[in-house]
Amino acid sequence: MGDKTSPANLGAVVAVRGSVVDIRFDAHLPPIYSLLHAQEGEIAIEVLAQLDAQRVRGIALTPTQGLARGMAVEDTGGPLKAPVGKGILSRMFDVFGNAIDRQAAPTDVQWRTVHRAPPALSRRSTKTEIFETGIKVIDVLVPLERGGKAGLFGGAGVGKTVLLTEMIHNMIGHQEGVSIFCGIGERCREGEELYRDMKGAGVLPNMVMVFGQMNEPPGSRFRVGHAALTMAEYFRDDEHRDVLLLIDNIFRFIQAGMEVSGLMGQMPSRLGYQPTLGTELSRLEERIGNTDTGAITSIQAVYVPADDLTDPAAVHTFSHLSASIVLSRKRASQGLYPAIDLLQSSSKMATPGIVGERHYLLAQEIRRTLAQYEDLKDIIAMLGLEQLAPDDRNVVARARRLERFLTQPFFATEQFSGIKGKLVSLKDSLDGCERILRDEFKGYPESALYMIGAIDEAKKKAPADKPAAGVEPGAKPAAKADPEPAADSGSKAKSELQPKPELEPQPEVEHAVDTDES
Ligand SMILES: Nc1ncnc2c1ncn2[C@@H]1O[C@H](COP(=O)(O)OP(=O)(O)OP(=O)(O)O)[C@@H](O)[C@H]1O
Ligand SMILES: [Mg+2]
Repeated sequence: MGDKTSPANLGAVVAVRGSVVDIRFDAHLPPIYSLLHAQEGEIAIEVLAQLDAQRVRGIALTPTQGLARGMAVEDTGGPLKAPVGKGILSRMFDVFGNAIDRQAAPTDVQWRTVHRAPPALSRRSTKTEIFETGIKVIDVLVPLERGGKAGLFGGAGVGKTVLLTEMIHNMIGHQEGVSIFCGIGERCREGEELYRDMKGAGVLPNMVMVFGQMNEPPGSRFRVGHAALTMAEYFRDDEHRDVLLLIDNIFRFIQAGMEVSGLMGQMPSRLGYQPTLGTELSRLEERIGNTDTGAITSIQAVYVPADDLTDPAAVHTFSHLSASIVLSRKRASQGLYPAIDLLQSSSKMATPGIVGERHYLLAQEIRRTLAQYEDLKDIIAMLGLEQLAPDDRNVVARARRLERFLTQPFFATEQFSGIKGKLVSLKDSLDGCERILRDEFKGYPESALYMIGAIDEAKKKAPADKPAAGVEPGAKPAAKADPEPAADSGSKAKSELQPKPELEPQPEVEHAVDTDES
């Protein structure tokens, strides 16, 4: 790791409390962010406070097992450093830049401090471009920005990691640049799986992975994001390449900061979060950005504690992002994957100047239709669909078809869903939505639109139903549009739902809707 300066500056441990270590230096007090080593470099400590003229307080980035009072501590003479250079491509590292993929440490690398300033305002690029993901609902309703930050918000197990993995899969193949995956405080297993998947897909040569997972001490989880960003900045600034930075999970960074702050003895702020939450997060987030030479596009999963979007961690993260994708448990339980809450998710890119007039108007129309349907749900639950005006009934039919069409089979879930993943171009997605809004698919069963790619697949999927649908359109909408509201209100419509397995090959929707109320 870091290069040592000639005359060793030695100190001695005064106190150890979990991850917090106080050290006494008689000769020269190491500055803030200095990295200290104890037990021949086995234990690394980062200085976070200078208590008085002789003592510093630091947080250990490694377990402190075996550390005792009086032990010698050596000042490395510099901060924590991360390796950068071509040699880090296709490798996997921990927070110290040690290779953790069972291969030799990379040669031809430089070591750079992980504490760096964000690009100056004058160096930032003012271009705005769209970043296509191949995922219908995102490209149409929440377009991502090249060089922007997008957040995937969601409670436990609603599909953040799956969506992130899918985005890696879709973008990495045809993207020129480098991808950096940073795992913060999530499962080690997921890191290992991702590494294997990427290797299998042959995209590892343009990828770097950095992990500080949930089993590691808070100091390590707190700094691993900085290490990943240092690598990303190297590719942007030195090699002038575009970088895709994926972070799973930025909430764990905030949480690690909270643990560090608590251990350091600071007073907690609202809901127990650290008083420095805002500055810590912005110091990391502001380094992500595009300059004229390259861009760092970042996609971050954000765990939302107790599904509460007003949680300070979520609120602070929201303010940094150009696109917020909110995942909803309700949609996940209905089987409508990706479980994106279409009305809560938003993107700053969705303006006519950026996405174009047609796309903008179409997105507005989709949102309006879905919002109207949302409003009508209560009425349907109380009075039934039959009581709606014909116009409203059309809105319901359109909205439900849109919802189905905006689901998509993922490559990342091929193994357990058994459906082949699909990549859909923005043009196909827009065409599909437009044609649904024009009622072109009114005669098709809703399930024909579920988990397909481009809209024409609906025709292939349900050719047999088409003539039938033409015969009974009067009777069908009632049965079709009922299940969802009923799922909220009770089991009444369940019975109406059951006799209508109109499409054998695709029973998932109806099943999923069925189980919703549980
Ligand atoms: N697009 C999808 N298609 C099918 N199933 C999905 C999809 N997305 C998520 N799931 C299901 O949801 C489960 C949980 O997803 P995932 O691990 O991505 O959640 P998470 O939000 O990352 O959870 P955590 O907060 O615990 O990390 C998956 O194992 C899978 O069964
Ligand atoms: Mg996850």
